[in-house]
Amino acid sequence: MYRSNHCGALRIENSGQQVVLSGWVHKVRDKGGIVWVDLRDRYGVTQIVLEEGVESENQLQIAKKLGREFVIQVRGKVVERHSKNPNLSTGEIEVRASEIKVLNQAKVPPFTIEDDTDGGEELRMTYRYLDIRRNPIKENLLLRNKLSIEIRKYLDAQSFVEVETPYLIKSTPEGARDFLVPSRMNQGEFYALPQSPQTFKQLLMVAGMDRYYQVVKCFRDEDLRADRQPEFTQIDCEMAFVEQEDVLQTFEGLTKHLFKAVKGIELGTEFPRMTFDQAIRDYGIDKPDLRFDMKFNYLNEQLQGKDFQVFNQAEVIVGLCASGAASFSRKQLDALTDFVKRPQIGASGLVYIKYAEDGSIKSSVDKFYQEEDLQAVLNHCGAKAGDLVLILAGDTIKTVKASSELRLHLGKELGLIKPGAFSPLWVIDFPLLEWDEEAKRFHAMHHPFTSPKVEDIDKMESDPGAVRANAYDLVINGVELGGGSVRIFDKGLQKRMFDLLGFTEEEAQSQFGFLMNAFEYGAPPHAGIAFGFDRLCAVISGKESIRDFIAFPKNNAGRDVMIDSPSPIDHLQLEELGLNLKA
Ligand code: AMO
Repeated sequence: MYRSNHCGALRIENSGQQVVLSGWVHKVRDKGGIVWVDLRDRYGVTQIVLEEGVESENQLQIAKKLGREFVIQVRGKVVERHSKNPNLSTGEIEVRASEIKVLNQAKVPPFTIEDDTDGGEELRMTYRYLDIRRNPIKENLLLRNKLSIEIRKYLDAQSFVEVETPYLIKSTPEGARDFLVPSRMNQGEFYALPQSPQTFKQLLMVAGMDRYYQVVKCFRDEDLRADRQPEFTQIDCEMAFVEQEDVLQTFEGLTKHLFKAVKGIELGTEFPRMTFDQAIRDYGIDKPDLRFDMKFNYLNEQLQGKDFQVFNQAEVIVGLCASGAASFSRKQLDALTDFVKRPQIGASGLVYIKYAEDGSIKSSVDKFYQEEDLQAVLNHCGAKAGDLVLILAGDTIKTVKASSELRLHLGKELGLIKPGAFSPLWVIDFPLLEWDEEAKRFHAMHHPFTSPKVEDIDKMESDPGAVRANAYDLVINGVELGGGSVRIFDKGLQKRMFDLLGFTEEEAQSQFGFLMNAFEYGAPPHAGIAFGFDRLCAVISGKESIRDFIAFPKNNAGRDVMIDSPSPIDHLQLEELGLNLKA
């Protein structure tokens, strides 16, 4: 028996008991005549003590030679501590060791196994198994496990059935690039790893499974960011005989259940809903962070037609009212200007109007505008004395995007985001199609199986850009946590959609023939959604990066630096697959 208890278990009530503990040496404090060892496992830390003249000299010497992260087994007696540690669950006791056995030695770890470590990201990822020994990462994985159990409990109670779908499939039209797997048995042919199980879950609805879910890996070859990994996990769901409202209710319920069960947080009564158009108009983005307000104010009317050419030539002028920021210094305003001029934001400049506490108005465009013009802008923006209005202008797409970034930046700078606040939101009525200027064609905004709104079907051919879809996203704190849609289940409508997307009959048949055929055998009305599980873990923990919620993530270059992958393969493997490398 390696242990009678784990390292987080013993309390004052256990005093006097003989125990066996096993774990890693977290720390050794050698005061000469007395040695303390902090012994750690997944459950906690227990202090071990050996004292000259009390414990045997031989054991004391073993303890003195222990190195960090050695794996040891300790036999001893639980005793009450003299100086208790209220910060430790086992802080009232210690174990007087009668025997210490080294089960395995360890090299000095390349970074300290502490909550705040000295290891940089690359080092931590290279030794991820050591990183996971640290509390913050361990806790993240435990939270993920708890969420996954609660997800299953909730969905099971709602009659959802978990069905596994294949990973070696055919290209799925989710919009990103596919990861491809060459086939040895069918040389020259490739499997694609699923970007999502989209078509399979629809087939499961045709198959009569009624309510499907799967906690499932998805693979997308796209540029990585803090909230994007090439392989990530979805909570993927589909329901038959439902409308949009049923899906929103069910998954709002799931979200509330998870926050309550895992964090004890009540997410309020009903999640607000906002149309895509409204989100773009008021916040410049389809995933607004509603933890603070600061809507866009459109100022073309107030600011055009005077002598300031930058504004006269602009397609759009957007003003943001930063409450209480009139006291911003020159330096702070310059820093904001530098922020919007960053290449990834791309604005050419930033105009301000300060509405000082004493009611005076000062602006970087004073010389082009009368005071009453500036006052009209302040009024339009709802500014009060003490506020600062910041203005961006230019072509619509760029300006709206830059204003949205500036809004988020101000939210953080001004401390407008209450720690621990959660603002869920359903964004609905997404456009069905998205115009691709480069390719001069439409793409499906969600995917090609998304149903247009019934009242917009007439416009599919005459005004495709204006057709709205029964598509929805769940956004929490500015993060797109999930997305889904009501599906087309009629073969004729699906064909019209493929036509709009520029698929020839043959292309549609070769790519999606299996689904179209299935639709001929009695497809029920159906709809679904998928949540990003990694993102859910991060958002619920108030973190931005999903990496620390994935046991073995990839870095920003898509590499696993621990196992050193991707890596070249043997020429024999290439030969077997019938592949030749170009270079
Ligand atoms: P969608 O493409 O919107 O929908 O994806 C659903 C959710 O998955 C998460 N997600 C990601 N998380 C981490 N890394 C990524 N690279 C990544 N890409 C997406 C997001 C997103 O909201 N089949 C449809 C769903 C449906 O229609 O039912 C789909 O996959 O949180």
